[in-house]
Amino acid sequence: MGNNLNISIFGLGYVGLPLAVMLSKYFNVLGYDKNIQRIKDLKSFLDKNNEVSYKDLKKTKLKYSTDIKDLKNSDIFIVTVPTPVTRTNKPDLKPVLESCKDIGKIIKKNSIVVFESTVYPGVTEEICGPEIEKYSKLVSGKDFYLGYSPERMNPGDKLHTVDKIIKVISGDCRKTVLTLKRIYGKINSNKIFIAKDIKTAEAAKVIENTQRDINVAFINEITKLFKKIDINIFDVLKAAQTKWNFLNFKPGFVGGHCIGVDPYYLAYLAKRKNISPSLILSGRKVNNNFPIFLADFINSKISRKNKILILGLTFKENVSDLRNTKVIELIKSLKKKGHKVYVNDTYADLNEVKKLSLKITPLNKKENYDTIILAVAHDDYKKLKYSFFSKKLKKNGKIFDLKAIWINKKLPKKIEYKTI
Ligand SMILES: NC(=O)c1ccc[n+]([C@@H]2O[C@H](COP(=O)([O-])OP(=O)(O)OC[C@H]3O[C@@H](n4cnc5c(N)ncnc54)[C@H](O)[C@@H]3O)[C@@H](O)[C@H]2O)c1
Repeated sequence: MGNNLNISIFGLGYVGLPLAVMLSKYFNVLGYDKNIQRIKDLKSFLDKNNEVSYKDLKKTKLKYSTDIKDLKNSDIFIVTVPTPVTRTNKPDLKPVLESCKDIGKIIKKNSIVVFESTVYPGVTEEICGPEIEKYSKLVSGKDFYLGYSPERMNPGDKLHTVDKIIKVISGDCRKTVLTLKRIYGKINSNKIFIAKDIKTAEAAKVIENTQRDINVAFINEITKLFKKIDINIFDVLKAAQTKWNFLNFKPGFVGGHCIGVDPYYLAYLAKRKNISPSLILSGRKVNNNFPIFLADFINSKISRKNKILILGLTFKENVSDLRNTKVIELIKSLKKKGHKVYVNDTYADLNEVKKLSLKITPLNKKENYDTIILAVAHDDYKKLKYSFFSKKLKKNGKIFDLKAIWINKKLPKKIEYKTI
């Protein structure tokens, strides 16, 4: 393949768009998304995920399309479509399979198809390859080639960006690997790790996220125990972290599109191979139940029906993404107990909030509350001043700072402050 590679990116979301913008500095890149509104927004330089700025979208050479036929000259296809789970927590490979079908219809000989979507080991070669073969009538490994390169970006993290982190790549033959090395190496100054094979790269990604889920689950579980014996988890962690090899995990909600989802992919594979994924699934269970535990705990500390303001709705701090946010469970559970619950989020996409049948209460609204719960540690909330709490909380009001962000803040007297 010559220097003037034509690259197509399938799915311009959190992962696909930043990658497409980066690659378009060096190659001819066409971004394809089946969501027409998304393409319209991007053409007006708006990334509602806040991953790529207006300025960068304005100057990018990236081209867009919603018509698969425009991609027929691609040498490389990079697939970054979602890999969610079904209602019963089974891998939902529909978007990936749809992409394979679309690629199969237009792929030319000698092209490479690289998957970045998180999957379980085996999906690229055992499911995607045959699906592309079916629609293209070409042969994988002979007429077209396969690669897998997991995406490690961390939404809202402006430090570990695509250009700075090590990229794991893998391919079905040496030539594929060398081509991918040349492409990805351009955007991160050659910080490339070549995995032994495609299955190894798929496995590496899915265990990175599963490991995080299990570690958070452990901390969430001991948080429950330490509540019972009246010691504060954050004080315990501070002490334990003085040991050089103690891992830095904090209690909290596990939502979003990755950490709370990917372990199910691994568990699915384990079950198919007759290995019981008991640790993986208990981690999931502990983390899924954590919002209910917190709602019970908060409810036990407030004597009557309260007017509650929750700060933070997104699945993690400093992002607009509401997918699979666990704050919803907290809200539902507190409402069920008879409390009146209001929610603010300074980052959330308001249209997406509407879809959750919720409404954002602005912070400048002249209202005061019995209780404030800090659910998501957005930077905006870290900056809140003494006057905010004195105005927003009724006399003898309570604060539940679930992320311990105000632990050292001067707060009005007569207000009860609690972490978890
Ligand atoms: N978000 C992250 O931080 C992150 C990090 C690492 C890995 N991943 C993995 O990357 C993949 C993509 O995640 P994301 O967060 O970018 O998803 P996303 O939902 O933000 O974006 C996916 C995009 O793909 C489009 N799409 C869906 N089906 C399509 C199809 N058949 N053809 C073309 N476009 C299609 C959607 O319209 C959307 O714009 C997932 O497998 C995820 O697990 C995500």
